Order: sequence, then C-alpha cells, then structure tokens
Amino acid sequence: MTPVIKPVSEDEILVELGSTKVITQAECPHRKGKLRFGMVNPRRMTITCPLHHSTFDLRTGRKLSGPACGGLRVSIVDDETVGYR
Ligand code: FES
Repeated sequence: MTPVIKPVSEDEILVELGSTKVITQAECPHRKGKLRFGMVNPRRMTITCPLHHSTFDLRTGRKLSGPACGGLRVSIVDDETVGYR
C-alpha cells in the first residue's frame, strides 16, 4: 500500500493509508513545514516533516521525534466524512 497525501483545504491535508484516512493540519507545528511533502510510514502510521524531520504519530498527533514543538491535530475519518469537507 502506497500512502497518498492530498490537500483538503488551505489548512488541512488528507493522508490515505489504504482504508485508513487521516485528516491533519497542512503545516508542521514547528516552523510550518508543508506536510503534503512529508514522508509517510504506513506501517508505523507516522508522518515526517520535510523541513526539519519531526515525526508525528498519525493516530494520536503526538510528536515522536524532532525539534521541540507541539503535536498535530488529527482525525481519523471515513469516506463519507471526507466527502463533506
Ligand atoms: S518545520 Fe517541521 S520539523 Fe521544522
């Protein structure tokens, strides 16, 4: 399964990991790196910022490694929910 990252709005992206879909913020909380260019690890369900490589858990939003900053807002959604955004 190859993860796909799609812009949803100016502020949000959709990360598709097979049947699991996660909406999260478009910008990294560290220094606004563009997470649509991030690297997703589908097995660990993480996304890594392309700028300074903070890694976040896509299930909880918690930062796992990288420079000091907060976590991500994340919502696990289904196809129907995505359609309404
Ligand atoms: S902007 Fe994302 S880690 Fe710095």
